[in-house]
Amino acid sequence: MTTAEIQRLEDAFQLPTYKKMPIALVRGEGCRVWDADGNAYYDFYGGHCVALLGHCPPRVVAAVQEQLGRLLFYSNVVYSPVRARAAALLAEMAPDGLGHAFFCNSGTEANETALKLARTWTGKTAVIAMEGDFHGRTLGSLATTWGEHYRAPYRAILPETIFVPFGEADAVARVLAERDDVAAIILEPIQSMAGIFEAPPAFYQALRRLCDAHGVALIFDEVQTGVGRTGTFSIAEQYGITPDLITLAKSLGAGVPVGAVLASDAIAASVGYGDQGTTFGGGMLAMAAVTATLETLRDERLMERAAHIHARIRDGLRPLVCDVRGRGCLIGVELDGPAAPVLAALRAEGILAGGASHPRVIRLMPPLNTPDDAIDALIAAFQTVLASNPTTA
Ligand SMILES: Cc1ncc(COP(=O)(O)O)c(C=O)c1O
Repeated sequence: MTTAEIQRLEDAFQLPTYKKMPIALVRGEGCRVWDADGNAYYDFYGGHCVALLGHCPPRVVAAVQEQLGRLLFYSNVVYSPVRARAAALLAEMAPDGLGHAFFCNSGTEANETALKLARTWTGKTAVIAMEGDFHGRTLGSLATTWGEHYRAPYRAILPETIFVPFGEADAVARVLAERDDVAAIILEPIQSMAGIFEAPPAFYQALRRLCDAHGVALIFDEVQTGVGRTGTFSIAEQYGITPDLITLAKSLGAGVPVGAVLASDAIAASVGYGDQGTTFGGGMLAMAAVTATLETLRDERLMERAAHIHARIRDGLRPLVCDVRGRGCLIGVELDGPAAPVLAALRAEGILAGGASHPRVIRLMPPLNTPDDAIDALIAAFQTVLASNPTTA
């Protein structure tokens, strides 16, 4: 099928909920993808921060293929060696004390689950979230997602969330001094969709102290930052704290849909049969992918590459743009004009990158095994595009 034929069918038979790039991808390998017309791209978008190991990582593909022919699926009503291995490896790589996983299928489900667990553990109901956060589209997570356009149509049925400015521990302290019904604080440690914003480490440490003092669960939504993307398995390790709950998805299966909540010993002890459940969570195919993803990450020491990739991109792009920020392979590039025409012009130069809610920010979410020549191609494309000043592309 040509790109035009594919577009016509998708537009005719899919609900029009997504704004899409005008390309149809048919193949991927490492940090490159190819479209239906044979054009190649370096992929710095990764299917929305998913391709942490690049496209079709061989070990994950092999593990999934092997599992496909053995047992495609069975639910949590039985034990499974594939699930057992994935859970044990996840516990080994997770921060100490967070060795209890609940497997689900997506980031929003992971956040829903974490919010429920926090309520069960504390016996309280209210939630504090940060202005600018994105936590998902299902109703529980949506309640904690900041953007007005996401929440406004559903306001009447969303659980109450108290939003505070990101990075202001005093604002959180004021809410906790006034109310004794707060079950959880949820946050994206790096606000990604908002435009890659991070607070100083002291902010996260203050949240930890406040949660301890007030009996509140601290939930780190690491759907984007987790699984080593910022250089450690959890970004919390870099702040020297341990949340009570961490949510993961996106990179966890290297492209196979899977989410997980990592819970502390104390929270795990408060959970009983029937408190949460999902048919597909923990299925064999996803679990084979999780194990292969984590083994690849560990055996190829890929987390150690995050700082190198970050520094090479930062050093190459800083002279060209207003700001380069973020950590590891989660990078925001702030321009002095609109990002949309630059993104389109980069695509024409063979580079895929992401936008953000911030209209002047481009997001780069490359794999941890991105080679230097791909980064050099990215920098050269930025140089070409910004020199031609694209405002109408
Ligand atoms: C930080 C964060 N949390 C949660 C989600 C929701 O994940 P999913 O789309 O898998 O439901 C996203 C998705 O982009 C995200 O970026």
